[in-house]
Amino acid sequence: MPKSRIAVIGAGLMGHGIAQVFGLAGHDVTITDAHGPTLASARDRILTNLRDLGDDVTTVERVRVCADLAEAVAGADFIVEAVREDLGIKQKLFADIERAAGPDAILASNTSVIPITAIMGGLENRARALGTHWWNPPYLVPLVEVIGTAWTAPAAIDVTMKLHAAIGKTPVHVKKDVPGFVGNRLQHALWREAISLVENDICDAETVDTVIKAAFGRRLAVLGPLENADLVGTDLTLAIHQTVLPAIDARPGPSPYLEKLVARGKLGMKSGEGFRTWTPEQQADLRARVLRHLKAARGSD
Ligand SMILES: NC(=O)c1ccc[n+]([C@@H]2O[C@H](COP(=O)([O-])OP(=O)(O)OC[C@H]3O[C@@H](n4cnc5c(N)ncnc54)[C@H](O)[C@@H]3O)[C@@H](O)[C@H]2O)c1
Repeated sequence: MPKSRIAVIGAGLMGHGIAQVFGLAGHDVTITDAHGPTLASARDRILTNLRDLGDDVTTVERVRVCADLAEAVAGADFIVEAVREDLGIKQKLFADIERAAGPDAILASNTSVIPITAIMGGLENRARALGTHWWNPPYLVPLVEVIGTAWTAPAAIDVTMKLHAAIGKTPVHVKKDVPGFVGNRLQHALWREAISLVENDICDAETVDTVIKAAFGRRLAVLGPLENADLVGTDLTLAIHQTVLPAIDARPGPSPYLEKLVARGKLGMKSGEGFRTWTPEQQADLRARVLRHLKAARGSD
């Protein structure tokens, strides 16, 4: 793929990592952020990641920081937004981006759950606007969901899929702009039942996590649920569903158990307690274990 000019808007957790991945693949990247100190530290954070991963540290030379949005997007072929998850901020930002970007640039949002249609609906040229949903950390998790709206041109999807495949990601095309796209719908269907098991005193929170990590979680990285259904047989899958599906949680809203945790200030690690209690040492240990696991998985890709 020819070298492209990439603009990344937002230099926080996701934005600096996305810039790093495009830079490592040889593209020229400009990154901007409304918060001066965050922008000023972006290259240092990228350098730290590159060193930690054993990746080419000269990558950082291809990442230019730029305080001015219009300057950052001018001349870019592909513009990806990774600012705060706030519809109003994103709508205003894309209106500003559209005024400053070249006519052929593709405009992408990294929103986690906001429909792309809502973010891009006010643009003059909606055919070039789409979603690219990366996963954290962008330099370790391969998936990028590419989401088209009813207005998105097939050519924009095609270019975006090819661009992300060429930088070593695993792009997938989400054909309808539904809340949660594909990954977060699947993930939160599982979380709903996980919470329900605890709420109904069927087991405790630690048991839920142990069951997943010590059983089907072991297989998930190499065996998706539909591959698994074919492996055991669709007839057996149907028989299981006839018994199990009527018994599992199908409520349309968040669990009252979760709402109570939040109301009582049990916000998880940041408050020391959520579904479980967390000492600072336990938090650091879990974070380190996740990172080690993701790095090992990247090494074996
Ligand atoms: N954190 C995750 O695991 C994750 C995963 C996938 C997608 N996302 C999505 O990516 C986006 C960014 O998330 P994050 O975790 O990197 O957030 P973050 O808070 O770490 O970074 C957001 C950055 O956006 C900047 N910003 C806010 N308004 C701006 C504006 N108008 N112009 C320029 N910069 C602006 C902030 O200064 C901040 O540095 C969100 O939409 C989020 O939902 C996050």
